[in-house]
Amino acid sequence: MQHLLNFKSWTPQQITKIIDIAIDAKNNPKKWRNTLDGKTLCMIFQKTSTRTRVSFEVAMTQLGGHAIFLDWRATNFAIADIQDETRYLSRNVDVIMARLMKHADMKAMAEAATVPTINGCDDKYHPCQALADLMTIKEKKGKLAGVKLVYVGVHNNVCNSLIEACTKTGMRITTVTPIKHPPAHDPELIEDAKKTGLYETTLDVKKALKEADIVYTDTWVDMELFTDPKFKEEKEKRIKQMMPYQINAQLLKGSSALVMHDMPIHRGYEISPEIINAPNSIIFDQAENRLHSEKAILLTLLNKI
Ligand code: CP
Repeated sequence: MQHLLNFKSWTPQQITKIIDIAIDAKNNPKKWRNTLDGKTLCMIFQKTSTRTRVSFEVAMTQLGGHAIFLDWRATNFAIADIQDETRYLSRNVDVIMARLMKHADMKAMAEAATVPTINGCDDKYHPCQALADLMTIKEKKGKLAGVKLVYVGVHNNVCNSLIEACTKTGMRITTVTPIKHPPAHDPELIEDAKKTGLYETTLDVKKALKEADIVYTDTWVDMELFTDPKFKEEKEKRIKQMMPYQINAQLLKGSSALVMHDMPIHRGYEISPEIINAPNSIIFDQAENRLHSEKAILLTLLNKI
């Protein structure tokens, strides 16, 4: 049984296969209809979501299965042992997807689960997002190997999963991350990426963007902290420090890079409004592809491919 918590135990072949299945699921939806007949996905959310919730639920519907949405605060996960609750869930559902605050809890859940468990984004990783991102890049560029992605923003969970996914599939990735979000700290992941020779980091954003095929950005403040009054001071500090790195027309002058953002977008902060709808923006294709890549994840973990 395989889980998807991050890409540490995933081979390059497994990652590229999931991406190819996702593209096939998008182009040939009828072929996959009813593949998950009678299967149930339980989706548990400790944090807010639009895309992750919608894409997984629609994926299950279109594959002939069923998805249950659980708001953590309305369940007994909130008052009981996470492993006891997960053991119970495994007796009734076929696969679990959870968006939790802490990766330690995600790991505890996977340890207790007797069905495949999917990380729907925690403080360290967002592997489902990275798979949709690479699917989108493969669609647009026809390949992954050799494509150069430049990530400009705060080094966070999305950044970690991109580094892992890109370096495992032969893409080149440069990060421009003046701020590192402490919970995302993963020195082992960075060491592994460095060994591939495909990863580098710099603060020279102009130079990094010169050879970029893709420029990618994300929120400067994690979703659970965005409106938290306790994080207000840190948020204002980050905005001041990150503004020179905003993805805007001036920064992208002379660049033909495709623009990506995993959404939700904070307009006027990490990206300027005119870039969101610019011809080179593939942000909404990327967001749509969450649906197709969630299908590929479910089909893979439930041994249907
Ligand atoms: N990108 C992403 O995970 O979107 P949601 O937070 O809306 O699920």
